[in-house]
Amino acid sequence: MAELERLAADLRTAETAVAFTGAGISAPSGVPTFRGDDGVWEAFDEGQFTYDRFQRDPAGFWADRVELHRTMFDAEYEPNTAHDALAELNRDGHLEAIVTQNTDGLHAKAATTARGDGSDSDNNSDGDERTTAAEFSARETILELHGNARRVRCSDCGRREPMEPIVERAEDGELPPTCDCGGTYKPDVVLFGERLPETVLQRARSLARESDVFLAIGSSLVVEPAASLPRIAASNEATVGIINLESTPVDSVADGCLQEGVTTALPRLQELVESSGSAQ
Ligand code: APR
Repeated sequence: MAELERLAADLRTAETAVAFTGAGISAPSGVPTFRGDDGVWEAFDEGQFTYDRFQRDPAGFWADRVELHRTMFDAEYEPNTAHDALAELNRDGHLEAIVTQNTDGLHAKAATTARGDGSDSDNNSDGDERTTAAEFSARETILELHGNARRVRCSDCGRREPMEPIVERAEDGELPPTCDCGGTYKPDVVLFGERLPETVLQRARSLARESDVFLAIGSSLVVEPAASLPRIAASNEATVGIINLESTPVDSVADGCLQEGVTTALPRLQELVESSGSAQ
């Protein structure tokens, strides 16, 4: 517990604290992780989901993507206590931002609850751009580095739509599903071999550079460029804490590594930080 108390003390006095998350934070919600014994990439070949394959063979890509989507996102997952703890720390000013590799949308969902807005992102599931004030402010401080699997985007006109109806059209034989403009829909996520959106990546990198506390949570830290973010933070004198069930390649540059479950560690961390007053 000493490790957590040290992290809490750092968070209390931090000017710019950033939380960086991976699939491990959503595992307690039932969302499968990617690596490890029952990881998604044990059941599926990640080579089937590259950007190159999407461009070469969109019909085949979508036939496999439907199966992956049903495996990963079929249930209506809810944020867990770890998402909620980060949302509260973000709302109370102890966290500047949450940068996530996850595409499940659970941080945004937890943020709208934390802001007491009540409505969750599904209220806007008809894909329109209207968002509640809470969701808008949540979006300002939640960076979805790898996009959001609950949406698709037209490769030609850029129009975004909710994923579910498009998956159903693909299951009914529309392979690949296409936009009214004739363009092919693509899941609104960053595929292997696809460049991350430059603005999001630059903002994530500047947050890592500016941070004085950087928490890497529930990630194996093996996929670039995301995995470099804690290294950027460490090279700029930030205190780097890693909370993950397994060791990671970044442990050597971290000031502290806690091999503990996120639903134990994060609510306790929030409690330690909040129990001693508001953000500086
Ligand atoms: N508490 C803490 N850590 C956990 C928990 C938990 N309850 N459950 C799992 N973990 C840890 C695992 O030990 C593992 O190291 O979370 C980590 C998840 O690692 P990955 O499955 O590799 O997920 P992630 O690091 O997010 O993958 C990065 O790879 O496939 C791409 O685009 C995909 O965003 C993803 C990227």
